Amino acid sequence: MAGRIRDEDVSYVRDHTAIDDVVGEYVQLKNAGGGQKKGLCPFHDEKSPSFNVTPSKGYFHCFGCGVGGDVIAFVMKVDHQSFSETVERLADRLGYQLRYDTSGASPEAMGPKKSRLYAANAAAAEFYQSQLLLPAAAHGRDFLTKRGFDKAAAELFGVGYAPDEWDGLYKYLRSKAFTDEELSVAGLTKDGTKGPIDRFRNRLIWPIKDITGEYVGFGARKLATDEVDQGPKYLNTSETPIYKKSRILYGLEKAKKDISQKRQVVVVEGYTDVMAAHLAGVTTAVATCGTAFGDDHIGIIRRLLMDDDSFRGEVIFTFDGDAAGQKAALKAFGDDQKFVTQTFVAVEPTGMDPCELRIASGDSAVRDLIARRVPLFEFAMKSEIAKYDVTTAEGRVSALNEVAPLVSKIKDASLRPEYTKSIAGWLGMDVEVVAAAIKKSAYNSRSAPAAQSNAAAPAPQSEVNLRDPILLLEREVLKVKLQAPELVKNWSEIEGNAFSYWAYHALRTHIDSHPDIDTAQLIESAQAEDVRSLITQLIVEPVRLDGEISTKYTTGLVARLREVALTRSIVDLKSTLQRLNPTENVEEYNQAFASLIALEAQKTIQKEISAGEL
Ligand code: CTP
Ligand code: MN
Repeated sequence: MAGRIRDEDVSYVRDHTAIDDVVGEYVQLKNAGGGQKKGLCPFHDEKSPSFNVTPSKGYFHCFGCGVGGDVIAFVMKVDHQSFSETVERLADRLGYQLRYDTSGASPEAMGPKKSRLYAANAAAAEFYQSQLLLPAAAHGRDFLTKRGFDKAAAELFGVGYAPDEWDGLYKYLRSKAFTDEELSVAGLTKDGTKGPIDRFRNRLIWPIKDITGEYVGFGARKLATDEVDQGPKYLNTSETPIYKKSRILYGLEKAKKDISQKRQVVVVEGYTDVMAAHLAGVTTAVATCGTAFGDDHIGIIRRLLMDDDSFRGEVIFTFDGDAAGQKAALKAFGDDQKFVTQTFVAVEPTGMDPCELRIASGDSAVRDLIARRVPLFEFAMKSEIAKYDVTTAEGRVSALNEVAPLVSKIKDASLRPEYTKSIAGWLGMDVEVVAAAIKKSAYNSRSAPAAQSNAAAPAPQSEVNLRDPILLLEREVLKVKLQAPELVKNWSEIEGNAFSYWAYHALRTHIDSHPDIDTAQLIESAQAEDVRSLITQLIVEPVRLDGEISTKYTTGLVARLREVALTRSIVDLKSTLQRLNPTENVEEYNQAFASLIALEAQKTIQKEISAGEL
């Protein structure tokens, strides 16, 4: 291993790399004015962007989690690479030749460098691709033809063939000066009794790239019969330092631009489905590689779909086969309903997957399938209803009993009345009957251990996200109110929607209904256990400030909270104004407009106060 990279070369790489370009490969960045760019932080979970990049200075900083630094720090952190690997990769990107100080060995002598693993995978991809052209791969080419893929399609996706040999790839890569250790760590070979042997044998090969376009692994489909090859139908690269299946989406590198632009991602189930979708014009298609679509995948997609301060766009799942309804239900009613309103399902009634559909009915059928997507909740409920014969009264009642509990599982309370109406329509029953059934099932489930939280409060969450800057602000104001009440002069002026987390809102309501009692009495009189424990927590938790709580700090804090609350009201009012017709509802429109002006004025005042004090 070479020595240390020379300091002036590190500076050169840092100064000549556009940090926003590099960050932009992982995070969708928007101009935020003043030469700043903003996006969703890749290092913590957030819904509104606190992650800032200042291209002119070459720095990034996240106001949500506090992480910051230069472009080298960013890549090290996001890709889990060492300092020298990162500088080497960035230098490659610039086409710059690094020089090393030869005195003193590198401190990092643990395993092959990631750059070698990328290179080994790239060389393997090339090898496999060339093998597909040989006579011995005729059955592989047949498979592709049967799946509707011609030579150009195979080339576009770099499809290859792993020969039916023990060590064809191994020998080739050794001749390219890769070491046994590099090949083994890259997951390309495994230990045989007489030395390293290829991991993939007599299989069709799909090279897998990461989001930046580096080769990181392979998906390999069995071509032999089950008697000859007892392995699974699809075999993927095992976990390696550069291949983490929970963070890999096949096709993402091709699809990422269109995902951001069209605000849509289509999640299909296999390599052939990604190919079929792209070839049919659905260029936002990706697939997981031998694993379920999980939290890390969601995070990657979210960052690409980020817009201003919210996640906007559609995530469309295609599920094939009979289990489609069950899979959809799992996603729809599971614990995490964070993006459920943006989630859709596209299922072909005949149960065909996109690849089969394209073969049977052509490209336009694949595009139509995606266009016919339905909201996840709707799909999941209709799948349940479809199990009953709703042409009979008995069937309708049974179906209703099946779907009613599902409605009470929808966490976004504002959606429940909508689905009540929809179910009435699907079943052909009166809305009142459906509503009563839902109420009853909600009551029954409430007496069970997992009780629903206070439905009157704003959107309940299972847990507060302590990194969300807005929630932190809300918490901070409550802390000051409990620890130094005399400093919070205009408590009663704080807007009714200022506390967005249900428990904080509940505590505020509790404080307001007992204006003249001390903290101990406040705890005693709290009905809900949640609120009681929140009070004690907030009393002991230190304020996020060195030294004493001052009037200045408190005033700034409250003003900032009010500014956020006012912004929320302004957004709502603007959408009301949009719906109102100024010529038909003159009075209502003018009233709403006047309120808007007043809110804007108040927001400006609070903004100035908080800017002055904080
Ligand atoms: N898969 C896997 N391991 C398996 C089976 C499937 O990882 N043993 C993954 C692969 O990513 C595969 C996807 O699940 O592409 C879909 O599997 P399946 O529907 O069975 O295969 P198809 O993609 O329809 O492909 P084929 O035409 O080869 O049957
Ligand atoms: Mn399939």
